[in-house]
Amino acid sequence: MDRTAVTPLVVLGATGSIGRQTLEVADRLGIPVLAVAARRGSDDLLAIAASRPDTQVVAAAPTASEQEALVEVLGDRVSFGPERLVELASLPGVIVVNGVVGAAGLEASVAALRAGNRLALANKESLVAGGPVIESARREGGGELLPVDSEHSALLQCLIGEEVGAIRRLILTASGGPFRGRTAAGLADVTVAEALAHPTWAMGPRISIDSATLMNKAFEVIEAHHLFGLSYDDIDVVVHPQSIVHSLVEFVDGSLKAHLGEPDMRVPIQYAITHPSRRPGPLAPFPLTDLTLSFEAPDREAFPLLDLGYEAGRRGQSAPAVLNASDEIAVQAFLDGRIGFSAIPSVVEGTLERVSLRKLETVADVIAVDAEARSVASELAGTC
Ligand SMILES: NC(=O)c1ccc[n+]([C@@H]2O[C@H](COP(=O)([O-])OP(=O)(O)OC[C@H]3O[C@@H](n4cnc5c(N)ncnc54)[C@H](OP(=O)(O)O)[C@@H]3O)[C@@H](O)[C@H]2O)c1
Repeated sequence: MDRTAVTPLVVLGATGSIGRQTLEVADRLGIPVLAVAARRGSDDLLAIAASRPDTQVVAAAPTASEQEALVEVLGDRVSFGPERLVELASLPGVIVVNGVVGAAGLEASVAALRAGNRLALANKESLVAGGPVIESARREGGGELLPVDSEHSALLQCLIGEEVGAIRRLILTASGGPFRGRTAAGLADVTVAEALAHPTWAMGPRISIDSATLMNKAFEVIEAHHLFGLSYDDIDVVVHPQSIVHSLVEFVDGSLKAHLGEPDMRVPIQYAITHPSRRPGPLAPFPLTDLTLSFEAPDREAFPLLDLGYEAGRRGQSAPAVLNASDEIAVQAFLDGRIGFSAIPSVVEGTLERVSLRKLETVADVIAVDAEARSVASELAGTC
């Protein structure tokens, strides 16, 4: 039986880029959406709720007036508070699509896996910040962890039928972002609008800035380490500006398998829901003629966050959580016009130096490190 035809979805971060595309996939495939959640009680959330009369609605942190407006329109179909996300993720027999941005998605990811649900994970920050905690939740609860990130979806598909011992390395592709080819000096005066203008993907603001700094690729390296169990020495990054090859696996016999397709997140979102089956998708046949694919090494000097990410991953324990929290603060400071683009790596590096390394065993451990790193990073961002 095709479980996706009957398993309802819980969509966390429903008003965001991933969330909206997930709802589109669900509607096209006829998959019921049991619940949607977002942070605020925005008009977008109200519009989603209005078009789905049978769907439960959660706003994690609405203002008082938003809360009032939601109750007036939706009555007892709506509820509030971050703990409601955890309850939704724990509902029995659902597929949880986690499209929340930032470390705020961690508790729901853990809850979904503990409840034995399938977790279609876009919220990579969960895995970066709380890798060991997510891994034990998966082991203990028996939930399935399916990546939504196009690179990891590509790797998963390249690895089907392969033995772990046959893998030489995983190769994540990166578009290079809007500043590919610039030197460190050429990055000093870039504007927020320039940094948000990703050349190949339309995404939310945090991941767009992370793509411009290559922090996003470092997060993806850490994500790949947790998802596929390979050491950091066996995970490489190559810049591929066309974003057609979504990632590659090299095997010990010298063969390479690559996954290709249009850069369109609806495809990996759908695969995370329907895996191991495939269902018809929204795209026309891919035009292979006149295709030029190019690959180049990342500029590690102009984009130091890539190597800082590797370093944090190799240190392990709390270092990736500090990396994520400090980057979250630095990116917000850049978006608010409080620091320049080139100060983002300084804030992250300074925070990594100041927050001591410790073991992460519970969600509470991750939250404590996250809070400490945010406070240090905010202080550093204030002095940049
Ligand atoms: N966009 C992409 O193409 C893409 C690709 C790969 C991976 N990802 C990953 O997917 C995740 C989402 O990215 P996005 O681009 O979709 O972000 P986005 O457009 O900024 O959307 C973020 C969503 O998260 C919700 N949210 C934020 N804080 C929350 C909280 N504390 N509690 C509950 N909900 C909260 C937002 O609600 P409000 O609207 O109410 O603020 C919104 O629905 C990120 O982890 C990103 O790295 C995205």
